[in-house]
Amino acid sequence: LRDEALGQINDSADVKALNQVRVHWLGKKGPLTEVLRGMKNLAPEERPVVGALANEVRDVLTTAISERQTHLEAIALDAQLAAETIDVTLPGRAVKQGQPHVLQQIIENLEDQFMGMGFQVIEGPEVEEDQYNFERMNLPKDHPARDMQDTFYITPDILMRTQTSPVQARTMEAHDFTQGPLKMVSPGRVYRRDTDDATHSHQFHQMEGLVIDKHITMGDLKGTLLAVAHNLFGEAHDIRLRPSYFPFTEPSVEVDISWNAVTPDMNPEDIEWIEVLGAGMVHPNVLRKSGIDPEVYGGFAFGLGPDRFAMLKYGVEDIRNFYLNDVRFLTQFNQKG
Ligand code: PHE
Repeated sequence: LRDEALGQINDSADVKALNQVRVHWLGKKGPLTEVLRGMKNLAPEERPVVGALANEVRDVLTTAISERQTHLEAIALDAQLAAETIDVTLPGRAVKQGQPHVLQQIIENLEDQFMGMGFQVIEGPEVEEDQYNFERMNLPKDHPARDMQDTFYITPDILMRTQTSPVQARTMEAHDFTQGPLKMVSPGRVYRRDTDDATHSHQFHQMEGLVIDKHITMGDLKGTLLAVAHNLFGEAHDIRLRPSYFPFTEPSVEVDISWNAVTPDMNPEDIEWIEVLGAGMVHPNVLRKSGIDPEVYGGFAFGLGPDRFAMLKYGVEDIRNFYLNDVRFLTQFNQKG
């Protein structure tokens, strides 16, 4: 009995099989229990002998089982560790990282530059009052130039802003000139009732710039915009100002950046100019409407288009690409600026 049981214990392949062996030999219905139960039928002098023997067998089996169990558990652990081994020398799987949208990159790059020149970045509401978007920008209700900016109206007095210029008025009325000059840029989305095509989007971006102080000249405007052009396209690019018209600036200019690098010995006719933004000296009416005395203060303003900048910088031919959110398009632009 003892040897047969020991044989089964050592043959059991895993903890589960071992447990079955234990129940079979040592359980309530097992042969050892049987022997002990049968003691009462034995002669009194035989009982101690059989009892001692049965106990000895039970101890031997119990010890053998627990040793086998420890052994089997160690094997199982080894197998599990082997199965879960990680090869730390394998190359890792790259985690795809997100990135700012190309327009956001352009805007942040411009913000960095303007902050470096002492400008504040101020944002205004996209749902705007007619009052700020037009009236305060010297565009009364019947002004023909309102047609230049086809407007989404929400009510007769509330609209989707057609330009970032209303932030000029909001900033001017809040500015305390005893604390110093006003220098701000305001990036954001603007809306116009245009039919979307390669060069028009009913929603696009602008970045407004405004500087108000005593003794600001057009030279300050030109120097500021030249710095922007250099930052965006490189030091060799020049700008030129052409007369234009905006209701909120006088004089007004359209600003071109040279598409090609300009060298001192170059024939001026060989420079290719592309129009990039509108600007001018803030109209006295605009200052007055925001409570600033045009006899004392003056300044310049500009409105540039990040979408257009991105199109020129990267050779993107269709503005709609910026708004389709196709990752194959967007992941091409993964460096700052
Ligand atoms: N707001 C003008 C536009 O949307 C651009 C501009 C801004 C022009 C500031 C002059 C000064 O066309």
